[in-house]
Amino acid sequence: LPAVTKALAQWVFSHPYNTKRPEVTVVKYLQPFQLSPETLQEVSARLRKDLLRGLGKHSHHKAPVKMLPTFVRATPDGTEKGDFLALDLGGTNFRVLHVRVEEEAQKVLKMDSQICAIPQEMMLGTGEQLFDHIATCLGDFLESHNLKGQTLPLGFTFSFPCEQLEIDKSILIRWTKGFNCSGVEGKDVVQLLKEAIHRRGDYHIGSVAMVNDTVGTMMSCGYKDQSCEIGMIIGTGTNACYMEEIKNVKRIEGEDGRMCINTEWGGFGDDGCLDDILTEFDVEVDKTSINPGVHIFEKMISGMYLGEIVRLVLVKMTKDKLLFKGQISEALGTRGLFETKFISEIEDGLENAKKILTELGLDWSLVDASVVRLVCDTISSRSAYLCAAALATLVNRIRNNRKLGHLKTTVGVDGTVYRKHPTFSSKLQKAVRLLAPQCDITFLVSEDGSGKGAAMVTAVAQRPAHQSRLLEESDGEDNEEEEEEEGQ
Ligand code: BGC
Repeated sequence: LPAVTKALAQWVFSHPYNTKRPEVTVVKYLQPFQLSPETLQEVSARLRKDLLRGLGKHSHHKAPVKMLPTFVRATPDGTEKGDFLALDLGGTNFRVLHVRVEEEAQKVLKMDSQICAIPQEMMLGTGEQLFDHIATCLGDFLESHNLKGQTLPLGFTFSFPCEQLEIDKSILIRWTKGFNCSGVEGKDVVQLLKEAIHRRGDYHIGSVAMVNDTVGTMMSCGYKDQSCEIGMIIGTGTNACYMEEIKNVKRIEGEDGRMCINTEWGGFGDDGCLDDILTEFDVEVDKTSINPGVHIFEKMISGMYLGEIVRLVLVKMTKDKLLFKGQISEALGTRGLFETKFISEIEDGLENAKKILTELGLDWSLVDASVVRLVCDTISSRSAYLCAAALATLVNRIRNNRKLGHLKTTVGVDGTVYRKHPTFSSKLQKAVRLLAPQCDITFLVSEDGSGKGAAMVTAVAQRPAHQSRLLEESDGEDNEEEEEEEGQ
């Protein structure tokens, strides 16, 4: 267990429930969240197999980790330039940006940007409403920045799993993270955007590049550091992309070069392969989510769910009369009201913990506040360690692909959980060093990957490149396991 504070130790030893075996109580609630280094290694090994399934021509259609080709074949080389529009949908807000990439100064400048809220009803409404709203926000932005007469290329950061057929043809596989608009799954998102713009008829856009936020993150960091070949997001959702050898992407025609693969690692575990490490609280979070059975790994890790996991643990401990004199306040009893940002604040200091517990209407003691901190620490640490296990799989794979004894690489990272939590990034980094000892990883926090990075993808996409094509889906036998490389 993490370091137990003095107050907590007192509680453990004085609580009447525990007189015989004081350690049992804390262990009972928190131990299922504690993953040993061996378990993390096992998680990493399972993901390694799933990456292969996702890349395989025959096994792909059943693979929980989708390994989606992005048609991004190169990271920036510093020659990119021009003016771009960027749209960003998939995090907490929808944004429109005007971005300028200056070759001489090697700079990506955000000229202007505007945030448009997406009301909750719209996240669950029709696709047409959503895309009309997006087209309106874009129209208003162009109008107010005198850009309506221009036909600028547009990078669309759409942070959901999409089967990309080309850089500007992207079929939504499924919604994740709180979105569930009807009539969009299975459709080409670029087409839906163009139709909405056409319905208005008062402006035009140039060529479109579809971008996952992980790819934007990798590309925005890649402009600064050309060895950045991985992009990782730990925010509302979680995911990562990396540069894979095209010859290993069996669904893509061609042998030469590399392509960025959007792993969609949030779907890891959707086939039940993580059931042995799920806690009763993870099961409950999944069951009450709008997409049960989907994105199991994401639900153990990302900002959309961490607060709720903590809340469920606290509710259970309170019901068992171990916290808050057995009294559950209305706020603590309400789904979604224990926000993930509280975890960061509570872990940041005892005073914050006291303030938040008061705001949640709880009658707390000093010991309660310490226990709550321990619960937050345990659940956020598990998230960091699981991310580390997944990232270790990717760096080890890149190292093996290139037959290197030692790999030096850079990971571009973004997301509120990684940025805002006081110890998340250091725990993740420490654990990944343990799990991938032959890799020397630099972590670079991305500066607006979804805006500037999207512009960068759009710029790189305009470069002439070898064409690749997605091969027809085939339903053959699952024999991709044979591709397992030696020495992984
Ligand atoms: C989506 C990914 C995205 C991630 C981070 C997940 O829910 O499926 O496409 O990259 O969230 O935003």
